[in-house]
Formats: sequence, structure tokens, C-alpha cells
Amino acid sequence: MDGRHSATARAHSNIALIKYWGKRDDTLNIPAVGSISITLDALATDTHVEFRPNLGARQTDEFWLNGALTQSPRVLGLLDLVRERAGTTQGAVVTSSNDFLTGAGLASSASGFAALALAASTAAGLALNARELSILARRGSGSAARSIFGGYVEMHAGSRDDGADAYAEPILSPDHWPLSVVVAITAAGPKAISSTHGMAGSRATSPFFPAWVDTSEQNLAEMRAAIAGHDLAQLGELTEYSCLKLHALMLTSRPALIYWNAGTIAAMGTVRELRAQGVAVYFTIDAGPQVKALCAPADAALVAHALAATPGVLQTRMSALGRGAHLVAA
Ligand code: ADP
Ligand code: DP6
Ligand code: CO
Repeated sequence: MDGRHSATARAHSNIALIKYWGKRDDTLNIPAVGSISITLDALATDTHVEFRPNLGARQTDEFWLNGALTQSPRVLGLLDLVRERAGTTQGAVVTSSNDFLTGAGLASSASGFAALALAASTAAGLALNARELSILARRGSGSAARSIFGGYVEMHAGSRDDGADAYAEPILSPDHWPLSVVVAITAAGPKAISSTHGMAGSRATSPFFPAWVDTSEQNLAEMRAAIAGHDLAQLGELTEYSCLKLHALMLTSRPALIYWNAGTIAAMGTVRELRAQGVAVYFTIDAGPQVKALCAPADAALVAHALAATPGVLQTRMSALGRGAHLVAA
């Protein structure tokens, strides 16, 4: 292993407009459906990775997340993939922090594993291209494949058994169509069921799962057209549709996955009410109780104000579209 032994990377979270839920390969973490997302400037992970010469892998790996020594087989698994590629057996110290809630439906696994893929591969002396990074990040978390890129991003489910065609690509630069996202936080704690476990349950038990997979390509095509046409009404309608379709899948899983709380429903109501008043704003919700409202930048302050006044909303955060994963000075 030549060259540098440490690197620091920053990656931003993303929110899917057309959702990923369900895998076709659990070991390689290959999604059963494609997805389309936007990368969020305001929610970021910073990850520092240092390989330690002359120390064996795994026994000496350390992962510090938000200041706490954390056990994570997935982080170790990603480090193993990097070591294998770089031809090294050195142990690593990984230090990461999220500037937003971890494991609470704001896609910390997305920014977390995108930042780790870039920092670890760079620290190991590999110079992976963006597609290789996206595939590597996917092994940590499916949504992380998208956070390698900024702006509007599409993740392909691919059809190969080895996952070599299951990667994300940018479809539109954020500069070409700025959008705002207001995040309404309705609970601060971590979700009871992780996305990984939840989607395994949906695939195994929801009678809607085959329909979810069968109708996915159609929704992706419609969303691509809405993004190409900068059509906010179309993008918003499809985003709400994909979100509610996802939650229908969750609700029909056994045991049921109910990620919403009263504040989630009230915030959806606020968005619908604003729309009835003529404001072009649309909601989406991931595997958690937080609501993200999409709108034009000129309407973001008004939307944030209305959501902040909604019962059950604890806090709001405003975000523009963000850039992809990048190296930063340590
Ligand atoms: P989320 O909605 O936050 O993505 P998930 O259930 O998908 O929730 O994933 C949460 C898991 O992601 C955490 O338990 C942790 O293992 C992992 N994770 C979160 N942040 C990071 C990080 N910065 N680096 C590595 N892994 C992380
Ligand atoms: C509801 O990417 O967190 O946010 O691949 O098992 O780590 P793993 O799951 P993850 O799932 C994200 C699910 C979602 C929708 C989405 O982001 O597309
Ligand atoms: Co996640």
C-alpha cells in the first residue's frame, strides 16, 4: 500500500423521489428496484479513515460514530472490500460524524457509507472512479450509492448477478433546476426497525411486493421525464405517489412497519393545505417519522414557517440541493 494512509471525505444525505425498498441480493446488497433521489446540501457526514501499518485487519479496526466506539459489521465489511482491492491487511481507524439525526429516517446510512467509501478507498491508495465508488458505497447501504453524486440522481437496479450494473448516476445538475427541501422533524429517536430489516420483511410478507417491483420502471420513466422537463407539479405528484406506495407496502408487511406518528400526519396535512392555497409544495417520507417538503426556493421560508407551526413538529431544517461526495482537508 503506497502513498497516503489517511483521508477525510464529506458526503450529503439524499431523499428518494422514487423509492428503493427491497433487495434482489442480500449479500451483495443489490436493490430489487431502481430509484431516483435528490442530494441534500444541509445534511452531511464527515468521515476520516486511517490505515495503521503493521496492525492486522479486523482485530484492530475501530469505528467511532458521533463520538462513540460503535460495533458495525457493515463498516468492517466495507473496509474488507477496500483492503482486498488494495492488497493490504492493515487495520483501520474510522471516525465519523453526522450533523443530523442518525438512524431516524434522514438517510444517515446514505451519507455515512458514501463518505466511508470515498475516505477508505482514498486512504488505501485506490483511485476509484465515481461508478466504482457508487458500487462500493452500495455494498454498505443501497441509498449510499446515490450520495456519491450531487443534484438529481438515478440508481439502477441492474440485471447482473454480480451487481456490476447496480450503480447510481447523476441525471441533472442542481444548478440546472434548484429545489428546496424543508425537513420537518417529528421525533428525535432512532427508528425501531432499520431500513434493512424492514425491507427484508416487506419482501417476504407483503402481498403488494410483486406489484411494487412490477410498477417501478413505469414510475422511474415518469420521474425522468418530470426532471427533464423541470416540471415541479409532475415531480411532486409522482414523489407523493411513490412515498405513499412505499408506506402501503410497509403497512401490509407482517409484522406491520408503521414509521409515522401524529406529527407525521399533521405535517402531511399542512403540505396538502398549503397546496390547496396555491403553493406548489409536495411531501415525502422515508423509513421514519420525518416529513420532507419539496418546493421552489422562493416558497421555502413560507413552507418552513407553516411546518414549524404544525402540532407535533419539533424542528425544521431547510436544505438546498447538494453536491456529491468529496475529499476535504482533515
Ligand atoms: P437512516 O434512515 O438513518 O438511513 P438506516 O436504518 O438505513 O437509517 O441506517 C442506520 C444505520 O446506518 C446506523 O445504525 C449505522 O449503522 C449506519 N450509519 C449511520 N451513520 C453512519 C456513518 N456516518 N458511518 C457509517 N455508518 C453509519
Ligand atoms: C425508505 O438504503 O437505508 O429511505 O440498503 O439496507 O442500507 P439498506 O437500506 P437503505 O434504504 C433506504 C430506504 C428508503 C428509500 C430510499 O432511500 O430510496
Ligand atoms: Co438508510
